Amino acid sequence: MIVGGTVRVPGDKSLTHRALLLGALARGTSTIHGALTSLDARSTARVLRRLGVGVSPLRAGRPVRVEGRGRLRPPEGRLDCGNSGTTARLLLGMLAAHPFEATLTGDASLRARPMRRVTLPLGRMGARFDELAGRDGLPLRVRGGRLIPLRYEMPVSSAQIKSALFLAGVAGGVAVAVREPHGRSRDHTERLLRAFGYPVAERDGWIALEPSGRIEPFEMRVPGDPSSAAFLVAAALLAESGSLRIAGVGLNPTRTGFLDVLRRMGAAVTVENEQVHFGEPVGDLVVGPARLRATTVEAVEVPGLIDEIPVLAVVASRAEGTTVFREVGELRVKESDRLSLIAANLRALGARAEVVGDDLVVEGGEAPPRGLARTAGDHRLAMAFAVLGTLPGARVRVDDPACAAVSFPGFAATLRAARAAPGARGRGRGPGVVPGRVGNP
Ligand code: S3P
Repeated sequence: MIVGGTVRVPGDKSLTHRALLLGALARGTSTIHGALTSLDARSTARVLRRLGVGVSPLRAGRPVRVEGRGRLRPPEGRLDCGNSGTTARLLLGMLAAHPFEATLTGDASLRARPMRRVTLPLGRMGARFDELAGRDGLPLRVRGGRLIPLRYEMPVSSAQIKSALFLAGVAGGVAVAVREPHGRSRDHTERLLRAFGYPVAERDGWIALEPSGRIEPFEMRVPGDPSSAAFLVAAALLAESGSLRIAGVGLNPTRTGFLDVLRRMGAAVTVENEQVHFGEPVGDLVVGPARLRATTVEAVEVPGLIDEIPVLAVVASRAEGTTVFREVGELRVKESDRLSLIAANLRALGARAEVVGDDLVVEGGEAPPRGLARTAGDHRLAMAFAVLGTLPGARVRVDDPACAAVSFPGFAATLRAARAAPGARGRGRGPGVVPGRVGNP
């Protein structure tokens, strides 16, 4: 395809969840502009409403209002977190500090995901959990109460674990210090809490929260999600010609590891109009096609680009040489077993890829990708392989393109909008997107 013009991506998923949850802990009305209105964000809003928090309907282009009461109220029935791991894990942290019982569940994908990574440290703080399915996962019953401070070495670098523990610290009024094993996961919670006056200090790899701030009602603007922008960046890099501007993207350095990797591979991505909103850098990304070469993504980089590995693997399948993603075993416990599915789908489309231990190895090639990509309902797999479908001569079928709505409502339309206006530069023909099919037949 030939790219051109300016597109925008929906609001950042991580920041939207956090803004909704922190709004619930404030006493009064908070206003969130630019919030993500996807299925995952709706899961957080729905669950908060069941916990006595007023959350206005999540509609694109409309501000969301959160009427917090400072505390959550005991819910009736189970709290359904849908497909959203962030909702479940962060909420477990908040509920750990509330003296009532609540039961969390989710869809089949979420029920299969590990929760002991948060229930174990939250248990040390004083909360109690019952695994209702008799294994590590949802449904879980949590009984919170008075908490004690925690100093904890995390087994994996994970923003969800870190944020669950910090939110428990905030809701329970106790100090929490954590250390991540290697690499830095996204730090939105730390930045937001600092904005509320919480001292969050970093020393010798420890991140320490003192419970001396206060969550006041706030007004905030959520930037575009860099993880969503990554699919458009990749489409522009793989395009035949043109240049694409993706406006208003969050550029927090703990989220932009994918840009570092792409630059190493030969991409020219420039940042324009950079500003800072609520402690978070925001700017426009400008990107066009490039000749790409393989790279090695080291384990220490992985937490900073964990959600972008599917699309980076797709890009690597078009680069010269063999790209290795080291120590990406965490991908096995995302919305699907992303590690196996990335490799299997690349192979199904004619590329060479394999999983070696916990590493993902992708060989670059030039043949037009053709075949069926299976998503297992995983939004990022659907979008990553849809991008591959934009290549000339591609015939890529994505089994469930609609699941993109988990994080990126309107993804197919935005991808179409990224093509140059007809006549702007050459043919200007974009990807043909019909249900179940993405490609350039
Ligand atoms: C998220 C953290 C990441 C990421 C997820 C959102 C968050 O998970 O995969 O999509 O908002 O904290 P981990 O930090 O557990 O790897």
